[in-house]
Amino acid sequence: MSRMNSIYGNAVGLVMMLAAGLWTNSRVRSILACATLCLALVGVEPYGAAQATTADSPHQSKQVAHPSNAQLADPSLEARVDRLLRKMTLEEKIGQLVQYNDTGDTSAVQTSGAPPVANKQGVMGALNPISATHVNAMQMAATGGLGSMLNTIGAERTNTYQHLAVDRSRLHIPLLFGADVIHGFHTIYPVPLGLAASFDPELVTAVSRMAAEEASTAGVRWFYSPMVDISRDPRWGRSVEGAGEDPYLGAAMARAYIRGYQGDDLSKPGNVAASVKHFAAYGAAEAGREYNRTDMSEITLRQVYLPPYQAAVEAGAATVMSAFNSLNGVPASANPFLLSKILRGEWGFNGFVVSDYTAVMELTHHGIALDPATATRKAITAGVDVDMMSHFYDTQLPGLIRSGQVPMDVIDEAVRRVLRVKFATGLFEHPYTEGVEVTAAVDGHRPLVRKAAEESFVLLQNDKLASGAPLLPLSPASKRVALIGPLADSTWEMVGAWGGAGSDRDIVTLRQALAERAQQSGGTLLYAKGTEIDDASQAGFPEAIQAAQAADVVILALGESSSMSGEGGSRASLDLPGNQQQLLEAVVAAGKPVVLLIFSGRPLVLDWAAKHIPAIMEVWFPGTEAGHALANVLYGDVSPSGKLPMSFPRAVGQEPLYYNQFPTGRPPLGTDLSKPPTGDSRFVSRYIDLPNDALFPFGYGLSYSSFSYQDVKVSKASIQLLQALVNRSIPLLEATATVTNTGDRTATEVVQCYVRNLGASIEQPVRSLKGFQRVTLSPGESKQVSFPLGFNELSFFNLDSSPTIETSHYTVWIGSSSLASQEATFEVVSPTRIADAH
Ligand code: BGC
Repeated sequence: MSRMNSIYGNAVGLVMMLAAGLWTNSRVRSILACATLCLALVGVEPYGAAQATTADSPHQSKQVAHPSNAQLADPSLEARVDRLLRKMTLEEKIGQLVQYNDTGDTSAVQTSGAPPVANKQGVMGALNPISATHVNAMQMAATGGLGSMLNTIGAERTNTYQHLAVDRSRLHIPLLFGADVIHGFHTIYPVPLGLAASFDPELVTAVSRMAAEEASTAGVRWFYSPMVDISRDPRWGRSVEGAGEDPYLGAAMARAYIRGYQGDDLSKPGNVAASVKHFAAYGAAEAGREYNRTDMSEITLRQVYLPPYQAAVEAGAATVMSAFNSLNGVPASANPFLLSKILRGEWGFNGFVVSDYTAVMELTHHGIALDPATATRKAITAGVDVDMMSHFYDTQLPGLIRSGQVPMDVIDEAVRRVLRVKFATGLFEHPYTEGVEVTAAVDGHRPLVRKAAEESFVLLQNDKLASGAPLLPLSPASKRVALIGPLADSTWEMVGAWGGAGSDRDIVTLRQALAERAQQSGGTLLYAKGTEIDDASQAGFPEAIQAAQAADVVILALGESSSMSGEGGSRASLDLPGNQQQLLEAVVAAGKPVVLLIFSGRPLVLDWAAKHIPAIMEVWFPGTEAGHALANVLYGDVSPSGKLPMSFPRAVGQEPLYYNQFPTGRPPLGTDLSKPPTGDSRFVSRYIDLPNDALFPFGYGLSYSSFSYQDVKVSKASIQLLQALVNRSIPLLEATATVTNTGDRTATEVVQCYVRNLGASIEQPVRSLKGFQRVTLSPGESKQVSFPLGFNELSFFNLDSSPTIETSHYTVWIGSSSLASQEATFEVVSPTRIADAH
């Protein structure tokens, strides 16, 4: 049954919940939105009080000098914006800044919520007394009082709304329909953290493009994606939605998504506008707790957290979503430093900013606004153009303008930004859906999402058995396979945190795929669920143990449910949930070789497993083709090539744990950290009860083949400081290495280049990723791989928050993970130093 339909069965109840403002996760919101419902419109009247702006709008001056998106800066587009803006009343202008969530309701068309009386303590509706009034989004659309909709999905539904806006409203301005299409629309690919493990930006562009093509047939022209928040703490559930802990990888992935969604022209059919989120530093939530504050130095902000957002903006992202969190005491959705100074001022962002869901209202909870009017004023003057669901801009802005607390040109500029995107996306010419609507996973897209899943898997351990061969790939001689675990046959869980419009019916589980194989090869598949994902009952254990005893090899499919990560999915424990650890130990005790597959939206603590299980593979949430992709890798049709985008800790107490950590004055050089300290070995930076390092570090992942590295070199022993500072866009030198496939099968290696800077005025990480390449080699084949290193790779932020290079030493490592050990060095020298040397 379709995910949307299954929920739609309960639509009345859920709509009531939503109408009551009850919190529900975004997936449910999106599901409900799909329902195709009819409407009855009453009393469509244009708002009064026309308040046109003058022909010589002052806002043109606000067009940035170096716009991030050339299409939005096109003079002919600007002329159209001017013409339209001149005709707009104040209410029509405000309407463009208002967005509501589609609850799927028919007649009352509540997109906001019912009074909070129905709410119990702690639910979202109770947090927002203003939004807890009814709004009629369809009437708003028809009167020009609405600019965009969230989660209105499907040709029939979007076209219904669009006709109201285009046919009935005075100025015929089309609506923009946005949705959380995060890892696929109907054909689902791995969650973003899994995709990042592929280290394959081209793949990310291809799947993003595919999702854009599918969703735009259903009227969705705006994706709330990519999420590019750096996450160094897996307790934070939204780690699953991003590219992990590293800014360089994060930036590469961010660009790749934008290329896929927007292509080279926002108006081309199949392209959608992206919304880069959540600006900014949401991933640094203190203690990994969802929505929590973030607090960091400006250097850390700029060096670690901002690069992926900047990369996405520079790649032309049409919109940005402001985050829920506060940053150094100022909520991101009312933060002029982030939204005006950095985003628009420094990066030249010329799209529009939409708030996160009720983030404007939440300013009152942050304690920086005592009332809705103040929250509204702070948000819009800081640079939040569109209010998603707070119900504040439409209720508060008219009064704020009339009283002069918000200048008219602030409104005009926000409206311009929205209109630019609407014109650039071609909405005025093509407001309705075109072509055949995609309503199920597309068969022609399955090979691509299968490939994406295969590339996302990270082989963490693959020990040799008594035979001398590693356990994986599975030997054809292992005829009797026991498949055990709560993730082995769950369609729902394969989809991951954001299901788009994905449907259970389209998913291939591992059980199905292994059954197909067993049938073809004459093998036997024994299946036992063993336990639930998060349960205490051991009722299923005996059957699982029996299956294990009867098998040649056991595949255990354990991990988290898809709802344990994603929004609102922070965990204080990183262990296997429920009694899965007990199941694991009971099955291992059966004495058969065990392959452990971990499905999760974050790194888990796999300490026990690493000590007792020969083969472990992290498989995230693989999407529509989960089963086939897993079977292909388990049986060796494809060799795993994924690398970890986040470090896997030994214990939750190590968090936040990341490879590009900083040095300390007491490094534990040569100290055996696996033993408790004695004497002086205590007085180094360490834990007394655990090593400092990750169990499986960033960049790590095994293959069925093996690779060796030789000749790690740099093309220059020194570069001049002046040259480094002046030539900011060309490579200053090259780092190279020769990589050889030393195994007996063709396989792909992700070659990684890390850099360390020593001797500058500000301490720098012990190493940082500055390049990576996927290289496919046949047995015995070698290839020289080179990484250009320029200002971007070698610079760091100084105390004035400017990127710079100083005279200092650099070490470069090239290898197969963040533990790469082969190095080369070079120096940045000043002319005086060169003269001294002579
Ligand atoms: C999430 C965003 C999402 C938005 C719209 C929010 O709660 O934080 O990531 O895009 O809802 O569904």
